[in-house]
Amino acid sequence: MDEIVEGISLTNEDALKAAGSEHLFIHASAHRALANDAGKRILVEGNGAMVIDIDGKEYIDGLAGLWLVNAGHGRQEIADAYARQAGKLAYASSTQATTIPAIELATKLAELTPGDQATAFFCSGGSEAVESAIKIARQYHFFNGEPKRSKIIGRRGSYHGATYGAMSVSGTRPASEPYHSPFMHGVLHASPSYCYRCDFRHSFPGCDLLCADQVEQIMNYENPKTVAAVIAEPISASGGIVIPPDGYWQRMREICDRHGVLLITDEVINGFGRTGRMFASEHWDLVGDIMTMAKGLCSGYAPIGGVMCRPHVVEAFEGENKLSHLLTYGGHAAACAAALVNLEIFEREDLVGNSRDMGARLKKGLEELSSHPTVGDVRGLGLLAGLELVRDKDSKEKFKDDDPELKTFGESLADKGLLTRVAGVLPLSPPLCITAEQVDRMVSIIDDSLTEMEAAHGFA
Ligand SMILES: Cc1ncc(COP(=O)(O)O)c(C=O)c1O
Repeated sequence: MDEIVEGISLTNEDALKAAGSEHLFIHASAHRALANDAGKRILVEGNGAMVIDIDGKEYIDGLAGLWLVNAGHGRQEIADAYARQAGKLAYASSTQATTIPAIELATKLAELTPGDQATAFFCSGGSEAVESAIKIARQYHFFNGEPKRSKIIGRRGSYHGATYGAMSVSGTRPASEPYHSPFMHGVLHASPSYCYRCDFRHSFPGCDLLCADQVEQIMNYENPKTVAAVIAEPISASGGIVIPPDGYWQRMREICDRHGVLLITDEVINGFGRTGRMFASEHWDLVGDIMTMAKGLCSGYAPIGGVMCRPHVVEAFEGENKLSHLLTYGGHAAACAAALVNLEIFEREDLVGNSRDMGARLKKGLEELSSHPTVGDVRGLGLLAGLELVRDKDSKEKFKDDDPELKTFGESLADKGLLTRVAGVLPLSPPLCITAEQVDRMVSIIDDSLTEMEAAHGFA
C-alpha cells in the first residue's frame, strides 16, 4: 500500500485520516466520520470482486460498492475508454450538439432494454434519472392535453433517490424525517409486494394480489385522470430485496394501462445483470413506459444515469413540444464511452449468466443458514440477495439498524473480510464477476458472524 499512499500528498495514514475527518463530509454520515466511525475505512485498490483498504486488508465487496460495480473493480479497459474520449472531447453541450459515444450508447441501450424502449435520455446518476422520469411523465400528459395528470404513486419502503422529487416518491418517510413535509405535492404511496410482511396479513396466492389492487384503489379514489405515473422497482432492493409474487407485475401493468397512467420501472439497482437478467423487468415480461437506470450502466467508472422511453412517450415531444428539462452533464461523452466498454465486457464475459449461476449458488448457501435463530427469511434473484434477520422467528420482530446485535454482526463481517451494509435485511449484491469460491467464502463468513453475534447476545 505504501506506493499508493506515497502518491498522495499526505503520505502518512494517520495524517490522511485526520485530514479526511476534518475536511471531507461523507454522505449519510456524521461529521468526522473517518475518525469516529469504526465502520469507515479508506479503500485504495480493487480487483474483480475484491477491494483493499489502506492497511492492506482485503475484503469481498459484498455490495459492489453501492450496488453498482457490476463489471468488477480494476477494469483498465473501461478507464482507458474514458481517458481516450476525455482526451479527444470530454463534453459537448446538449443545447447545441451531441457526441458519437452518446449516440452509440443510446443505440446499444435500445437493443438491450426491454420491449420497445428505444430512446435514451442521459443524466449523471439514479436520482437525476428518477427526477427526469417524473418530469418526462408529467410533460407527456401535458402535451397530450391532460395537464391535470400530475400525481405520482410510489410504494412504501422503496428508495428512488436523494433529490427532492426522488425522495418524495420514495417510500422512506422515516429516513426523510429531517426534511419533514412539504414533500413534492401530489405523491401517494401504496403497499409494497412484501409477502414476508404483508400489509394485509394475507398470503399468496390466496391474497389475489391485494397489494397491486390497492394501487388501483388509490387511483380511483384520487381520480385516475389526475395520476401521471406509478414508479416502482421490479424488485425493491432498499425495501429489503422484495421479490414480488407471480402475476404482480402483470396486474400492475394492466392497472396502469386501464387508466392511462405511465409505469416508471426503476432499474437503477435491478438493471445491468444484477438479477440474472439484463433487466429485472424481463423476469415478468414487463415493459415500463419509462425506465430509469444508472449504477451498473457504467459499473461506477463514471457517474452516468439515464431514462429509456417507449415510442408513445417520446412521440409526445415532437415539433413545438420540446422537453423542458436540461442537465449539464447529461450525455457526457467520456462517461458514455466508458459505459459502452462496460457493456462490451458484460457480453464478452457473460456477466449476466454468471449473475444467474452465482446468484443461485449464493441463494442455496444462504438458505442453509436458515437454521440460525436470527435468520427469518432468505430472498434472492441473481446476485441480488437478502437475508432478513429477526429477533424471533414466530413474531418476526425486526432488528433496528442501530441495534447492538447488528453492530456486533457488522464488525464481525468486516473483520472476517466481507464488506456490506448491515441492516435488518442484510443485502448481498457483489460484482457480477464473482467466483464460486468467493461466493462460498461470503456465505461462510456470514455463517460464522451470525454464530458469533448470536452467542454474544444470547440467542438460543
Ligand atoms: C432504485 C433506486 N433508484 C434511484 C436511486 C438513486 O441513485 P443515485 O444514488 O445514483 O442518485 C437509487 C440509489 O440507490 C436506487 O436504489
